[in-house]
Amino acid sequence: MQTTLEKTVREIALENPSSIRVFESLGIDYCCGGRRPLSEACSHAKVDPGRVAELLERSVRDSQTPETGEWSAKPLRELAAHIVEKHHGYVRRETPRIEGLLAKVAAKHGPGHPEIAQIEQLFSAIGLELSTHMLKEEQVVFPYIERMERAVQAGDRVPVAFFGSVKRPIAKMVAEHDDAGALLSQIRDLSNGYTAPRGACPTFMALYRGLEEFERDLHHHVHLENNILFPRAVEMEEAH
Ligand SMILES: [Fe+2]
Ligand SMILES: [Fe+2]
Repeated sequence: MQTTLEKTVREIALENPSSIRVFESLGIDYCCGGRRPLSEACSHAKVDPGRVAELLERSVRDSQTPETGEWSAKPLRELAAHIVEKHHGYVRRETPRIEGLLAKVAAKHGPGHPEIAQIEQLFSAIGLELSTHMLKEEQVVFPYIERMERAVQAGDRVPVAFFGSVKRPIAKMVAEHDDAGALLSQIRDLSNGYTAPRGACPTFMALYRGLEEFERDLHHHVHLENNILFPRAVEMEEAH
């Protein structure tokens, strides 16, 4: 039997949605980097695998995170609508707010904290990338998945798309998730795991809290797409 440590982080996150909280608290990437075995993810995040296995066992006994558990069987169009409303909405609201905080902190503490200018650059790249990425999902990928699902439910053939197989835009979306995840992990490193310097002003603290929450939300968001919506869409296409 496969032990927990041999399973991929993605498999564990899908089987046991409450494991996501454990991964988050330990800085283990379960969405973009979720395809590696847990043992490897532990050494990457520099955490003791035995301790992680223990926390995961405990998390099984905890309540489920409804956010993930319920989506494995619901209609894909409902999941896509949920992603747009909850996560795309969040990114659109939070990006300008965090940019405003970054500008304030840079103006006040920039000279003493050169990492802020780097974080500002990285975050602006993330904001730009995500805004086009989300439009592609909302205007092309998700509507196609919805059309395909309706056709399959009506017993019709899978609709023909200009991009050919749905696997093609999905591979592009997954690659863009990896890019955004990599930029965010650079911010995590530069900010020392979102730890504001001692005696930091409330704006500095609010900035790091905001960035940390942004990363957490993006991980949930990418998990729903990479691990649930997209594989289910590919499966549906292959089966029809
Ligand atoms: Fe998305
Ligand atoms: Fe996405």
